[in-house]
Amino acid sequence: MIILKSQEEIEKIALSCHIVAKTLDYLRGKVNPGITTREIEQLAEDFIKANNAVPAFKGYRGYPASICASVNNEVIHGIPSSRVLEEGDILGIDLGVYKDGFYGDAAYTFPVGRVDSEVERLLRVTEESLNIGIEKAREDKRVSDISHSIQKHVESNGFSVVRAFVGHGIGRDLHEDPQIPNFGSPGRGPRLRSGMTLAIEPMVNEGGHEVVVLDDGWTAITLDGKLSAHFEHTILVTTDKPRILTKIT
Ligand code: MF3
Ligand code: CO
Repeated sequence: MIILKSQEEIEKIALSCHIVAKTLDYLRGKVNPGITTREIEQLAEDFIKANNAVPAFKGYRGYPASICASVNNEVIHGIPSSRVLEEGDILGIDLGVYKDGFYGDAAYTFPVGRVDSEVERLLRVTEESLNIGIEKAREDKRVSDISHSIQKHVESNGFSVVRAFVGHGIGRDLHEDPQIPNFGSPGRGPRLRSGMTLAIEPMVNEGGHEVVVLDDGWTAITLDGKLSAHFEHTILVTTDKPRILTKIT
């Protein structure tokens, strides 16, 4: 069941989302060669708490950390560790905040120092595919219109979309209906209505779309060892342009 949010609920989700965006913006300046992903997690946790909010992922279904930190061939759900970031790496940070009964969720993939131009292209195309998907999230469109537009952009640029993980509704729960795949034919799935809050999150692989989950039960990596990027926004469907709630303003 897809839950439509009231104006009051929307403003609470927007506040959680604003803290998510501010945290990602703060972390942007910290992602440099020499820092460990655990140090980044600590900075994120302190920043979120200083904003009187709670890191949403820690303890969620047993997840052990406040952020997901996925390096290079790690697709999503990388667990922060003593791994030191090196020039040329990419780091996906996925971040959720819980405040006053509601969640916000977003992800961004950062270059560490200077990266190859082909890596830059992967990041650019992935972020573009998110924005193209968001553009479709309007009243009277259907869920797979988002999915299809993302897949089309990614594949026309020679990359592949991960199929094993999807975007989701969000609100009082981190994961609500509907599921939002990043692939599929247009015109399918639930009709979008104003008042829906959705987390759209394409994961894009440089090589094949297949992923495997490591023995830690969380970290998803690419089967072929090639790079993967992940961008996510929480958005509000309206009768007009979608409102990006996790945009840094
Ligand atoms: N953005 C991810 C998602 O929506 C993060 C969940 S990580 C978890 O699924 F640890 F909370 F599970
Ligand atoms: Co999400």
